[in-house]
Amino acid sequence: PSQNCCSKNIAFKKVFGGEITIDRVAQAIAAFERTLLTGNSPFDRFIAGDQNAISESAKRGWQLFQGKARCITCHEFNRSNPFFTDNKYHNIGVAMNKEGFAELAKKAEQLAKQGRLDKRKLDELALDPAFSELGRFLVTFNPKDIGAFKTPTLRNVELTAPYMHDGSEATLMDVIEFYNRGGNANPNLSGEMRPLNLTDQEKQDLVEFLKALTGEFPKDFPENK
Ligand code: HEC
Repeated sequence: PSQNCCSKNIAFKKVFGGEITIDRVAQAIAAFERTLLTGNSPFDRFIAGDQNAISESAKRGWQLFQGKARCITCHEFNRSNPFFTDNKYHNIGVAMNKEGFAELAKKAEQLAKQGRLDKRKLDELALDPAFSELGRFLVTFNPKDIGAFKTPTLRNVELTAPYMHDGSEATLMDVIEFYNRGGNANPNLSGEMRPLNLTDQEKQDLVEFLKALTGEFPKDFPENK
């Protein structure tokens, strides 16, 4: 994980040609958010009725996504919400990658129970990268929210490696392997997480499906300039 942090750091300097400033971070986030708003992916054309828009493998992946692999329980998709997120917070175990997380979680839970967390303490803690791993808990102080993060959209996910809030999964196949083993065990793990027993073919089909979610980009898109 720390390697991810620093290689990203270097990539940032390459793109912006200098130090990281708030303005440049805002620019980077704006560019990223625009990628989330692109449409007309092969999957969108498939859903609209074009049977040839995606591969057979991606079609099987879509079935798995809604069935055996259970992705759709959190990465919600329907006509009124086509964004592949329920906009809710879940603990799938990513934060457990961090050394000392268990002790940190225990400490946070104690502080919460003693009523010793307030807005000021929170602002202080939120600046500590270790504490930010506590996720949604830092907003609600509810121990159930320790390590819970908001379900991200999956549109254009092919273009935004590495994955998860801490960049701990390098490729989409790594993400699928993570889900296949049921996430990372921890006391607050979502009840929706469980081993999936996917075959190699099924894993590949899910990756193909995720790649079918890459949309079209306008010609004046900043990265193309
Ligand atoms: C229990 C809810 C839940 C289920 C089930 C679930 N996800 Fe997720 N997914 C999340 C959350 C929450 C995150 C963000 C976690 C983080 O950053 O710590 C996430 C992150 C991801 C990411 C990384 C996105 C990025 O931009 O970094 C991918 C890809 C993904 N999920 C795909 C899937 C697939 C495929 C399945 C089914 C095999 C699945 N998810 C099942 C909740 C879920």
